[in-house]
Amino acid sequence: MIALRVAGTGRFLPEREITNEDLSRTLDTSDEWIRSRTGIRRRRILDPGDPPADMGVAAARAALKRAGLTPRDVDLLLVATNVPEEIIPGSAPFIAEGLGLSHEPPFFDVKAGCAGFVFGVAIAGALMESGLAGNALVVGIEALSRFVDWEDRKTCVLFGDGAGAVVLVRDSGGERGILGVSLHGDATKRELLRIAAGGVRLPASPQTVAEKKHFLEMKGRGVYQSAVTMMERATVEAAQRAGISLSDIDWLLPHQANLRIIEALVKRLGFPRERVLVNIDRVANTSTASIPILLDEAVRDGMIREGHILALTAFGAGACYGTVILRW
Ligand code: ACO
Repeated sequence: MIALRVAGTGRFLPEREITNEDLSRTLDTSDEWIRSRTGIRRRRILDPGDPPADMGVAAARAALKRAGLTPRDVDLLLVATNVPEEIIPGSAPFIAEGLGLSHEPPFFDVKAGCAGFVFGVAIAGALMESGLAGNALVVGIEALSRFVDWEDRKTCVLFGDGAGAVVLVRDSGGERGILGVSLHGDATKRELLRIAAGGVRLPASPQTVAEKKHFLEMKGRGVYQSAVTMMERATVEAAQRAGISLSDIDWLLPHQANLRIIEALVKRLGFPRERVLVNIDRVANTSTASIPILLDEAVRDGMIREGHILALTAFGAGACYGTVILRW
């Protein structure tokens, strides 16, 4: 076990809301199609020109405030995102700058697709356990609205923007902490989700722009088929490593990619639906931000209480997938 406590959580969602009906005015789609296939009713979208990092800074500030800490107390900053502010140096320096981390703690981006936040919590826990870090701030930021083709109904209806954050502090002597972790990567699924251009394999050119190669490409069926078994495997494995059975888990927080994926996962795990947290109907798939947003909502609603066991499970581009089980 890694002894630690989630001292604070925070989230930020942009003001602007776009409903399925709004989308159906400009796109050949319908509320019925989107709702029945994905469970999504509406999503928040960041205004063009607003930097996604500002959402991360706002979520991080809220988490620090709830933890009763200041930016000066951050010993490690991890930022999970698919939308780097710049390809080099990524997003973490922008969050550090926004928070004013002038004491120069280490920071870096965690790039593990939509599983980035789960990977980030596991990495932060390991660094804390090893003594390399004291208090850790883990932030998930997403603005995939910037990378989807708004004329492609197969992808643009699925995503929403937002950010979430947690502050982890050491908690020696107690029962709280990370009980079990399972992280995996399956490179045979590398092409299920990608932005093909803009990297070194296919550098940006007028042709890549004309061919829309800078937008997110997704093989929806393939993602769907892999996601359920990946999250199932990781959750079963993490529970085994934690020495608990699935029935000991009070709350399952699955990555919010698609309601049907969540329901299929829950069925395969034989887990009670009423103990599964869901917000995809209101905020859509916020990628790396989905779990910390969900967590903050549940904490604010008073659903998560001391002693509860939580399983955070996610999958994403790579394909990276994993589960972290923690006692609150
Ligand atoms: N509105 C109306 N029709 C649509 C839409 C839409 N928004 N999108 C696709 N269609 C059409 C297609 O064009 C296709 O029409 P055709 O048969 O005439 O060609 C038809 O619906 C069926 O398309 P499929 O892609 O086969 O639809 P499917 O039933 O597989 O559902 C979906 C698509 C919802 C994307 C599903 O595959 C899915 O949920 N996959 C998982 C995607 C996912 O979770 N992505 C997560 C992103 S990454 C992450 O979070 C890690």
